[in-house]
Amino acid sequence: MLCSAQIDTAVYRRRRENVLRQIGEDGIAIVFAAPEQRRSGDTDYPFRQDSYFYYLTGFTEPQAALVLDGKNQTAALYCRDKDESQEIWHGFRYGAAAAKTVFGMEHAGSISQWQTAFQEALAGHSRLYALWGLYPEHDQTLLRIWHQIQQTAGQRAAAQGVLAPDGLMDLSKILNRMRLIKDEHEQELMRKAGKISAAAHVRAMRYVRSGCREYQVEAEILHEFMQQGARYSSYNSIIAGGKNACCLHYVDNHSPLADGDLLLIDAGAEYQMYAGDITRTFPVSGKFSGAQKEVYEIVLASNIAAIEAIRPGADWQVISQAAIAQLTQGLLDLGLLSGSLNSNIETSAYRRFYMHGLGHWLGMDVHDVGGRFNDNGTPILLQSGMCTTVEPGLYIAAADDIPAHFHNIGVRIEDNVLITDNGCEVYTADAPKTVAAIEALMAE
Ligand code: GLY
Ligand code: MN
Ligand code: MN
Repeated sequence: MLCSAQIDTAVYRRRRENVLRQIGEDGIAIVFAAPEQRRSGDTDYPFRQDSYFYYLTGFTEPQAALVLDGKNQTAALYCRDKDESQEIWHGFRYGAAAAKTVFGMEHAGSISQWQTAFQEALAGHSRLYALWGLYPEHDQTLLRIWHQIQQTAGQRAAAQGVLAPDGLMDLSKILNRMRLIKDEHEQELMRKAGKISAAAHVRAMRYVRSGCREYQVEAEILHEFMQQGARYSSYNSIIAGGKNACCLHYVDNHSPLADGDLLLIDAGAEYQMYAGDITRTFPVSGKFSGAQKEVYEIVLASNIAAIEAIRPGADWQVISQAAIAQLTQGLLDLGLLSGSLNSNIETSAYRRFYMHGLGHWLGMDVHDVGGRFNDNGTPILLQSGMCTTVEPGLYIAAADDIPAHFHNIGVRIEDNVLITDNGCEVYTADAPKTVAAIEALMAE
């Protein structure tokens, strides 16, 4: 539970006011808390609040809904009631009265009443904004309520104040645009998520040794996250030794590590709902082999070049294409591809070894919202306040046409980068990434 002293009510209120302005007096919006998820029997996964809902409320309980009423320019939070018995078994609940004050809402009520209250508020607005498709069970309820009002409105004059919304609108358009630009509060949390994540990778580099299991390295990573205040990971950690690194979303994390293997770790801390997402690749022995180093330097050069190109006004598609060209030229230089640079790019031959994109937006979700293109198909140019990952990689699975010394080398180097007014800030800079820095750290 967050205690009230930690909740910066003004941050969430500002966001709600922004949405209220955008939906206008004819609009009403609703956002729901995330559902609880069963793990097995009567045991649940740890509850994680819905990112949109948290973004607008700071409220961390399940079974809640937020209604933004454009006509009255007010916010109402519906949440669980206080319940002595439930609180003895499962923990504290705010209840509506306390939630209204602590979270700075104009109204609050019991979640058991949200449908009645929403039906009343909805009549009189002509546009209903919701995150359609996110939680289908809520879609059903909203459509049922909407239909009821439509019928009532057909029977009574609009003059009596009953107006059925004739626009079912997608709220994600508004919220995704807002979430794409991180405000100062978010930047502070993401900076911390990056720092914690970097410290965990340093800890893993210091810990790793031949014979240990991938999940033992994972334990070190999680230890550092939690010790530094990040209770959860942003995603399932990828701890991939040797050939496992050539599986992009390897999360089995069971294999023993051997001298001579590279270890690829893709792990990030979630700090107060904001994601870190770092990948580092380093040798289990502490020393890169010649072939490992050759591949590594190609990936590192493209990571560095991409970060250097990041600034306001830059086009991510151009930066991504430059990374493809750089990695493809590297593959040609290693003799893993043949022919011209252009033909290997045009035929996508490079995708045998580099099969993912250069990065994604980062925020409350590890693959954060916002998209890379405007509605008219033009690229979204980088702007101060956006946060992206930069994560080039090369993955060389064993195959008959590949020289043996390159077999099972998988390298990805991933950083988290905030676009600033003048260029960028790398949140994950504390995790070493040059060969010299990694080898020096591992030799300590
Ligand atoms: N860790 C997931 C990703 O890098 O996209
Ligand atoms: Mn990533
Ligand atoms: Mn990652």
